[in-house]
Amino acid sequence: MDIKKLLSQMSLTEKLGELSQYNMGVLSTTETGDLTGPANDLKLTKEELAVVGSVLGYSSAEGTKKMQDEHIKNHPHGIPLLFMQDIIHGYRTNYPIPLGMGATFDPNLMEECARMSAKEAAVNGLHVTFNPMVDLARDARWGRCMETTGEDPYLNSLMSAAQVRGYQSDMNKEYSIAACVKHYAAYGAAEAGRDYNTVDVSERSLRDYYLPAYKAAVDAGVEMVMSSFNLVNGVPSTGNKWLLDDVLRKEWGFDKILISDYNAVYEMYDHGYAKDAKDCAEKAINAGMDIEMMTTCYLKEIPALIEEGKVSMETVDKAVLRVLDLKNRLGLFENPYYYADKEKADKIVFCDEHRALARLAGEKSCVLLKNDNNVLPLNEHSKTVALIGPFIEEPMIGGWPGAGSRNEVVTPLTGVKNLLKDAKILTAKGCNGTLKEQPDYKMIKQAVKCAKKAESVVLVLGEHDLMAGEGKSKTDINITPAQVELCKAVCKANKNTAVFIYTGRPLVLSEINDIAPAIAIIWQPGTENGNVLANMAFGKANFSGKLPMTFPRAVGQVPIYYNFYTTGRPNHEHDLPIAYRSAYQDERNSPLYPFGYGLSYAKFEISDPVLSSNPLKRGETLTASVVVKNVSDVDGEETVQLYIKDCYASLARPIKELKGFKKVNLKAGEETTICFEISEKQLEFFTANNVFEAENGDFKVFISNNSNVKTFATFKLI
Ligand code: NOJ
Repeated sequence: MDIKKLLSQMSLTEKLGELSQYNMGVLSTTETGDLTGPANDLKLTKEELAVVGSVLGYSSAEGTKKMQDEHIKNHPHGIPLLFMQDIIHGYRTNYPIPLGMGATFDPNLMEECARMSAKEAAVNGLHVTFNPMVDLARDARWGRCMETTGEDPYLNSLMSAAQVRGYQSDMNKEYSIAACVKHYAAYGAAEAGRDYNTVDVSERSLRDYYLPAYKAAVDAGVEMVMSSFNLVNGVPSTGNKWLLDDVLRKEWGFDKILISDYNAVYEMYDHGYAKDAKDCAEKAINAGMDIEMMTTCYLKEIPALIEEGKVSMETVDKAVLRVLDLKNRLGLFENPYYYADKEKADKIVFCDEHRALARLAGEKSCVLLKNDNNVLPLNEHSKTVALIGPFIEEPMIGGWPGAGSRNEVVTPLTGVKNLLKDAKILTAKGCNGTLKEQPDYKMIKQAVKCAKKAESVVLVLGEHDLMAGEGKSKTDINITPAQVELCKAVCKANKNTAVFIYTGRPLVLSEINDIAPAIAIIWQPGTENGNVLANMAFGKANFSGKLPMTFPRAVGQVPIYYNFYTTGRPNHEHDLPIAYRSAYQDERNSPLYPFGYGLSYAKFEISDPVLSSNPLKRGETLTASVVVKNVSDVDGEETVQLYIKDCYASLARPIKELKGFKKVNLKAGEETTICFEISEKQLEFFTANNVFEAENGDFKVFISNNSNVKTFATFKLI
């Protein structure tokens, strides 16, 4: 299709339609073709609805075809629709929430999962997924931690690019869908972890920590970028010319589609940044925003803005061309159904192969925090097992499940029953799993009764999946008093108790940690939930997950993250409440469990790092190597992590930064050498010169299996 020619024939309303996206609430008409309440509320006309360019949140093999037919018929130029939806951890086969995927430290697995998602979504008529979500998160109070891969810019960047590759496959493979990286920018830095809240960060922090994962998506060829709801240093992202035009478009060379978040163009009014809807439209489009989601500022206000010379037709045309270009490259002008195909959907979606991949990802995401007396794995030949906890029969799937249905989730109870076919499974809830819940001793008594009768106990605690996600911030991330009391009583009743924590964010586990002999984080594993739980609890799979976010000792430590700056009065070495040091009176500085931490049944020893040479000359590389030995009698997988500290610089640098990691599988007793190449590139940061560069000086190299590592080797960059 000659899209420039098409553009030249389009009316202004048609053009603005391309730049408008609505959901089915707005787009559905009555049987007689009349508009419904939501469309009327937005004062949209039939003519405007007929030229809307894209649909939010609708997919169905048959439904999208029907809608496409109808739309093309009614559109003056027969331009097809784009269907976009939030598919963030699987379409109908749900793999773990992104935070769980972060814990796999496995970009290849992430890519495979995204590929599976794309297949299921494409045959259901989708063209775009609003994912990857790569907002760096350091504050566990924020409900949307569950949607990110965590607190580290390097890990997030790898996961970001992996997802783009998985969804898009360069947009040339069967079942590719376009990815939309979000929420640009720094949405995860919301003050006090309260969703949508103000973000006030220095440009350096943005450049060094928050922006890299969006850029990684752009470098991987992402087709769309979604702006975030928040202010960034006083200007809403949606109308932030510096972010959208200067950085994203000009510096990074992104010339594809930018879309606002839901209602965000008009929310610039609520932010106090725009006078009215017209001002919102002007600020958004002139900042480079192409599509507005769920508002009518463009359709209603841009015609007057053009007449007044405040917005140019050229700006509008550029935006429209970007949308038409995607439609064209997807081939929608020739085949508007894209891959929508009911027969294929019936075969591909929720197939055994996909469920097996989701289960594998679930297992790989589990993080073992402690395992005193080798309580785990529990004996799979036990005759009587107790499954206790508020969520044992909850079909938790994890936020934004796409077309995933709770009815298809394997609950913890079903999973344990699937695995332990001959065992007697005793169950008790012990509490209800609500917010701020106080103990109900009757329920606890019931649970204790079960625990006493059983050979071993799987105790399922944490937070319900509905407690994490958009708009689900919390002030208190402690395990509730009800759950702590339950844990105390059950662990006392049965020493063979393993606690599995369901969660979409780091929680404060300090009390549980003092009580329970074995603790594992299972996040929200998705469709295969209960099967993952059973496999991990009863030794069908070994643990290999690593924490992608720091787990604090106390809520008051939040935000807490491993790559902090030391102060002039550092206290991290002593980690005690010393007066006039940077410390708390009532708590240590260190986290309960650090970033990158996670045990396996195998035990690994990692030697001190050895450097191939010193100094490192610019343009050359050096190798840092360690010997990793599996000193246990079980096989296992370890994630060997490389951290670097820039000792002094034109701007202070963090205590250490993740710069690489490698997965290694070692048989019992086996050892191997793991090498990391270090070059100038890894030493770059946004310096006092306002550019990314490496500065000459001293560097420390740490290699370990978590971020809390003290031994290092040093080199000089010259
Ligand atoms: C709002 C959310 O912030 C965003 O992540 C999502 O993609 C849109 N709604 C569309 O559902």
